[in-house]
This record gives sequence, structure tokens and C-alpha cells, in this order.
Amino acid sequence: MSDAPAVPPTPPRIYALANQKGGVGKTTTAINLATALAAVGQKVLLIDLDPQGNASTGLGVGAAERKTGTYEALLGLAPLAEAIVETRIPHLFVAPANVNLAGAELELIDIERREFRLKDALDASDARARWDVILIDCPPSLGLLTLNALVAADAVLAPLQCEFFALEGIGHLVRTVDRIKRGLNPGLHIAGIILTMMDRRNNLAVQVEKDVRAHFGEVAFGTTIPRNVRISEAPSHGLPVLVYDKDCSGSQAYILLAGELLRRRRLGIPASERAAQ
Ligand SMILES: Nc1ncnc2c1ncn2[C@@H]1O[C@H](COP(=O)(O)OP(=O)(O)OP(=O)(O)O)[C@@H](O)[C@H]1O
Ligand SMILES: [Mg+2]
Repeated sequence: MSDAPAVPPTPPRIYALANQKGGVGKTTTAINLATALAAVGQKVLLIDLDPQGNASTGLGVGAAERKTGTYEALLGLAPLAEAIVETRIPHLFVAPANVNLAGAELELIDIERREFRLKDALDASDARARWDVILIDCPPSLGLLTLNALVAADAVLAPLQCEFFALEGIGHLVRTVDRIKRGLNPGLHIAGIILTMMDRRNNLAVQVEKDVRAHFGEVAFGTTIPRNVRISEAPSHGLPVLVYDKDCSGSQAYILLAGELLRRRRLGIPASERAAQ
């Protein structure tokens, strides 16, 4: 008998990139993990659920291509399929955010099945059958937009910046996921914590990494994303860093992260993945 974990019957397909803390690398990770997965032949859809629209901009999707976006899909004004545009990266598609999305948190309040709007839109467009991986970029809050992402998703990927208060922030997300798991989405779990903007010369960052690994064990990805200026330059060119400078340390880290995610899906890591099935 081998000790290898049982392979989950259906590995997660829809991941929400969530952390209510702002500026921790959700969008950067969504763009570059999506690109790295597309580069190995996965058919990937990135759903931009942040009114800031940074994922759409960072993938070079201009205003003309955003007339129909995630707002229209959530409000039921257009099918999600109509919002989806091709990016210049083969196999990578995006459902962009347009300015209308800024009003959605309020407008959704009075709408029927307000927490299920994204799930319903994905189901209606047969998204699970059409894409190998779907990444949802969430805004920095735990409002109705993020709630829609957490209800639609199979699992959460939580980028975490190694700084003071990072653990408290993630604790809040863990409690939110538990609450949703008990009610709106029983299969939801945290598939991974991704340490971003890591600077190993910084003692505090190294200590926070140790604490995260001690507390979360295999839930934390082994791959860490280093602080790398090329990563922050790439979005202003409308390009993932993997295209902007594929050899820089940031690109190499996202390639490793994509490989680790695929391996974890295959093996059913973390264990909560197996329990969630
Ligand atoms: N590894 C990195 N190295 C250097 N800069 C980075 C790295 N990751 C992200 N950044 C920069 O940090 C800033 C915040 O990143 P990002 O927009 O991905 O965070 P976010 O969590 O999506 O923010 P928000 O909560 O506002 O949506 C951006 O300017 C981005 O370019
Ligand atoms: Mg963002």
C-alpha cells in the first residue's frame, strides 16, 4: 500500500483569488498564474470581479472590449459568454470588468439570488465544461462581489503579503470561508495560500513566512513569489510579466506556482481538498 493521498475525483476547477486586504497580489497572481497555466495548454478563463478592472487592464483589454463585462453578466443583462474576450495569450480568455461594476455592490442587494448571480451565470454558460481552470479576481473587501466569487468557486487561493497583521487578515478570510461552507457553498475550502512580494532580506517577512507555514502547513504553497520590479512594470504595458520578461525571477516563480498548483490538483493537496469532495 502506498501512502500517496487518494486523488480527488474532481479537482477544483473554479478558484477565487481572495483576500480582503488590499494590495497583496491578488490581481498580479490572477494574471500571471492564468498566463502560466495557459502556457502549458490549459484553457483558462480569468473573471475580473473587481471594479478597479486591474486584471482586464493588465491583460491589455481596452475599453472598447469591455462594453459587456462581468457587471452585465451578474445583473442578468447579458450572458457571461457574451462578455468573454480573447487575450493575446493563446488559451487565455477574460471576462472583463467595466465601470458599471462599481455600482454592483449596491445594486445586487435587492436582486433575487444575490449571492448566486455569478454561479448562475457560470452554470448557464456551461463554463465548467468549456474551461480547464477559471480564476476569479476579487476586490479587496468581503462584500457581495467577493461573496459571489466564493459561492461560485470550488476553492480559494489566498495571496498573502509577508508583513505585520498578515495573519490576522487571513484569519478573517478563513472565518468567512467557514461561514460560507456551512451555508451557501458546502464544498468551499482554501486550496492554497500564496506568499507574495517576498523579500528574504527582510527579517519580519521571513518570520511571517515561518508563522504562516507553522500555522497552515501544506495549505501554504511551497513556491513563494519574490518582490520583483519587472512584475510591477508589466501591467502598464498591458502584458503579463511572463510575456514582458519571461526570464525575470517573478516570471520564473509564477511558472513554478502553476506547476505546483497542477501537481496539487492531481494529488489532492491540501487534505481539505479531499475532504471537500
Ligand atoms: N511580486 C511582486 N513584486 C513587486 N511588485 C508587486 C508584486 N506583486 C504585486 N506587485 C505590485 O503591488 C501592487 C499590488 O498588487 P496587486 O494589484 O496584484 O494586489 P491586489 O491584491 O490585487 O490589490 P487590490 O486589493 O487593490 O485589488 C501592484 O502595483 C503590483 O504591481
Ligand atoms: Mg486587485
